[in-house]
Amino acid sequence: MEAQTMITTHSAQATRGLGQQIGGHLADGDAVCLSGELGAGKTHFIQGLAHGWGALEPVTSPTYTLLNTYTRQKDTQRFYHLDCYRLAGPEDAVTLAFDDILDAPGVLVIEWAERIEGLLPEDCLWIGAEVTGETARQFTFWASGPRALKLLEAVGDSH
Ligand SMILES: Nc1ncnc2c1ncn2[C@@H]1O[C@H](COP(=O)(O)OP(=O)(O)O)[C@@H](O)[C@H]1O
Ligand SMILES: [Mg+2]
Repeated sequence: MEAQTMITTHSAQATRGLGQQIGGHLADGDAVCLSGELGAGKTHFIQGLAHGWGALEPVTSPTYTLLNTYTRQKDTQRFYHLDCYRLAGPEDAVTLAFDDILDAPGVLVIEWAERIEGLLPEDCLWIGAEVTGETARQFTFWASGPRALKLLEAVGDSH
């Protein structure tokens, strides 16, 4: 395995803060994939990520929404948050016109990404979230391509 970074947070707010720092580095075409058990902090992290990217609307937990799309003021980029929790498998994502989402300009963040493995972009920043204590969450970052590696460097620089 190539370069990998691990960061532990100790509050939901700290997790959002971590996401926010990284969100500021997201560029058009970047993809971020999150995996990990329920309650591991994935949604909180993504809320921070969207905020750091510049999302205008308040970012709500998309527990019952498959795809949340955010815009920002400075350009026409989109922030797509795809939550695959309720997907039975990759077949479901196909009916979502997943390919259209991938082709649109912006950043794509996929929660429960392991559920649609095989459909994912090759070059992703992978983030594994784990519960390591009552309020401790460990985030493990690794890159599956050159774009993601640049993002990973930004993660490392901020810590
Ligand atoms: N360090 C932490 N980071 C993130 N969430 C935390 C942390 N400590 C406790 N929590 C709690 O864990 C839960 C995480 O929820 P959520 O972000 O929706 O997880 P997921 O999307 O992975 O299911 C929330 O109830 C949050 O308050
Ligand atoms: Mg979630």
